Amino acid sequence: MSAIGEPVSPSSSTSSLPVTCMACGRTFDGTRALTTCPACGGLLDADIDLSTTLTPAVFDAPKGSVEALSGVWRYRALLPAIPAEHIVSRQEGHTPLYWDDRLTRYAGLTGGRFGVKHEGHNPTGSFKDRGMTVALSHARATGARIVACASTGNTSASLASYAAAAGIPAMVLIPEGKISASKLSQTIAYGAKVVQIDGDFDVALRLLRELTDTYDVYLANSVNPFRPEGQKTIVLEILDQLDWQIPDVIALPGGNLGNTAAFGKALSEAYQVGLIDRLPRVVTVQAAGAAPFAAYYDSGFDTYEPVHAETIATAIKIGAPASVERARRTIEHTGGIVTAVTDEEILDAKATIDGVGIGCEPASAASLAGIRKLTASGEISADATVVGVLTGNVLKDTDAIVAYHLEDHDGAARPRGNRPIRVAADLEALKKVLDDAVLD
Ligand code: F0G
Repeated sequence: MSAIGEPVSPSSSTSSLPVTCMACGRTFDGTRALTTCPACGGLLDADIDLSTTLTPAVFDAPKGSVEALSGVWRYRALLPAIPAEHIVSRQEGHTPLYWDDRLTRYAGLTGGRFGVKHEGHNPTGSFKDRGMTVALSHARATGARIVACASTGNTSASLASYAAAAGIPAMVLIPEGKISASKLSQTIAYGAKVVQIDGDFDVALRLLRELTDTYDVYLANSVNPFRPEGQKTIVLEILDQLDWQIPDVIALPGGNLGNTAAFGKALSEAYQVGLIDRLPRVVTVQAAGAAPFAAYYDSGFDTYEPVHAETIATAIKIGAPASVERARRTIEHTGGIVTAVTDEEILDAKATIDGVGIGCEPASAASLAGIRKLTASGEISADATVVGVLTGNVLKDTDAIVAYHLEDHDGAARPRGNRPIRVAADLEALKKVLDDAVLD
């Protein structure tokens, strides 16, 4: 085994978990926890063996096996070769893909269709569980003594749960007062050590990366190359659910951009092993107040400037995303688009998704808001088949729901506000409510 940070050549590697720097191309032994290239500081990718042609049958698994129970480990043929005895799984994945005509209309896809891949159905209510099962399995394989992350809430809830399942202590750094109460509660309940800092997510992640440079702490943010590996399976599962037919577009919200990076890697690998013969366009949607990647895209990927982030969608309130260059690779490779939508557009799209009975947290609704904007501008054709990823569960941010429906906006209730009413405890009053509801 090579010493930490010592490059290995891919062909002569003694490691079964090689990682390669996307900036300088050197390969390292990934059986140790590395989150940046020891040679140049670039981001690392886990190397996957793509030398054999695969057919979907390779994902069939015996009933009761972890590959059958988990919608992540089902795609093990395209995941790093972590030994089975280290796998920490909560039967994540296997999330629904819903099609709804009302969402299709809202998206402006007059001749197309809009489906939602609901990652809020994962064990802790967000897509993070897919990355976390791989990261914690890797952490266990590397003998990690403590795992840590910086988070806008979902990563911390997921890390706390998987760390508890693995029996490894966890520490999370969160921006004080800027994450939803539901996510904070989950993280506390699962037993992670919660450290609130007087700074935003970007400061928290920078501090934690500095800390993990000098302390033996396993960093579970998406800069860790094993996290995006699990998140690749969102795309693989969408393709599987479509019987390996390719949608025209896959849209997702963008914050730290780990997921955008993972989607591109999944598509490129699925293409290389022959599972698909063309690539859908990946569309990343940011909140207008936290959109450095959209501005970078608008400059033709010429000028990149981090920003100070402000948005109601706290999950994606990130001004200096860590995976910018990995995400750029996805957009360029898939002919994708990056766009930004206002908080009002996000809230309106969320009310629409919630109102058809599906529901999601605010950041997730950016997928639909972004597609609505791009069909209106003609950048996406109205007859496209689009899958939008809903990244988190409706219960992840109940404060946002209460604020939208119960509080005034610009001095009045929102037209779609659904305010509970109070009536006297008698039959006549209830009958009147029913009559009014039928007339509505
Ligand atoms: N949607 C939700 C619900 C999220 O929690 C996040 C990220 C994103 C979208 C953006 O994904 O960072 O891969 O571009 N949440 C992280 C966290 C930052 O700490 O929970 P991304």
